[in-house]
Amino acid sequence: MAAVGDLSFDPWNPAFVADPYPAYAELRERGRVIHYAPTDQWLVSRHADVSALLRDRRLGRTYQHRFSDADFGRAAPPPEQEPFHTLNDHGMLDLEPPDHTRIRRLVSKAFTPRTVERLKPYVRALAGELVDRLVAAGGGDLLSEVAEPLPVAVIAEMLGIPESDRAPLRPWSADICGMYELSPSEETAARAVRASVEFSEYLRELIAARRKEPGDDLISGLIAAHDDGDRLTEQEMISTAVLLLNAGHEATVNATVNGWWALFRNPEQLAALRADHSLVPTAVEELMRYDTPLQLFERWVLDDIEIDGVVVPRGAEIAMLFGAANHDPDVFADPQRLDLARADNPHISFSAGIHYCIGAPLARIELAASMTALLEKAPTLSLAAEPQRKPNFVIRGLEGLAVTL
Ligand code: HEM
Repeated sequence: MAAVGDLSFDPWNPAFVADPYPAYAELRERGRVIHYAPTDQWLVSRHADVSALLRDRRLGRTYQHRFSDADFGRAAPPPEQEPFHTLNDHGMLDLEPPDHTRIRRLVSKAFTPRTVERLKPYVRALAGELVDRLVAAGGGDLLSEVAEPLPVAVIAEMLGIPESDRAPLRPWSADICGMYELSPSEETAARAVRASVEFSEYLRELIAARRKEPGDDLISGLIAAHDDGDRLTEQEMISTAVLLLNAGHEATVNATVNGWWALFRNPEQLAALRADHSLVPTAVEELMRYDTPLQLFERWVLDDIEIDGVVVPRGAEIAMLFGAANHDPDVFADPQRLDLARADNPHISFSAGIHYCIGAPLARIELAASMTALLEKAPTLSLAAEPQRKPNFVIRGLEGLAVTL
């Protein structure tokens, strides 16, 4: 593997992206925190450190609530990227308390385990229909036929986006999510800006329509909260809806296809799962650990922090490597082994601390529903062609997953 400096960690190298786990082992052994010059970030790769830092209030997803760009020695984003940043910066994922707390409290009502549990029959029925269609066709692309339509329909349904409006949601989301990779290109930024403008415009109209005629959906709920006590601005409502739509499917799509590809590469594990469907809950967790769908999350250092004798100063950026933490041998026995029955599995794929994934209970229901439907209705499902990995590092996925029966 080509090395940058003297590290094998090289997020722009397709060979690294294909299998980053050996380079992570090297990082974990090298030290608890390593400065990485190409992105000017401090890499943290051990499970104990990632887990503790996610809960550490000296770090933040943003610094804007306490400091200016100049304080942090950072250039303000170029003015032409304003629509993307306005959209992104008002979503709860990129806010810190008190704004984060206020918005998360409103949204979390829709995502309690009990509320989400009520969606189970709908999610299961939809997964069943999608798999029936795949089976009737004798196979096809698991990504576009099952992995993608299931979470997109579920979150669109929750938000109350009519079926006839759903086609552009995926392309808008993909274009916006391009900005979450390391050092996005100008072309990526231009696409994200265009998608941000169109997506925001669409939601502004939808909010206006729901305000006139409220429904039983999340957008109507957010409007009611807004109109009630002015607790959510219109921009926050738009940013929340976009965040829910994007976060509500990107990782789930990738977790589904990464997971099935891992199963095909480990036939003895797939056979065990086929023989015993009661393994589905631990299998879902293990597949999310084994090939982590979101590989890196960043935090700004708001107050100097010392890690293993190294002072990481205010204004620096820490990059936490979730895939590395999920393969840490100090926490996971034989971490390179896929073990669908793994009982002790404190993987970090849904994060921790105040930004812990609000959709985790829903994601688990969706992943279990598609897996169960595929096990029950397509018991001979197999790989039809070697899949192509997406070139992205942060959002880890496949271009498609061709399967046959
Ligand atoms: C396998 C699927 C999923 C994975 C791996 C995943 C992972 C994550 C992670 C790692 C974070 C926190 C990032 C950080 O700490 O910086 C997060 C936050 C979030 N996720 Fe998920 N997610 C998944 C599915 C979902 C679903 C289905 C929804 C909604 C329907 C959702 C909505 C959110 C939201 C709104 C946040 C922001 C929470 C906050 O900032 O307080 N996610 N997710």
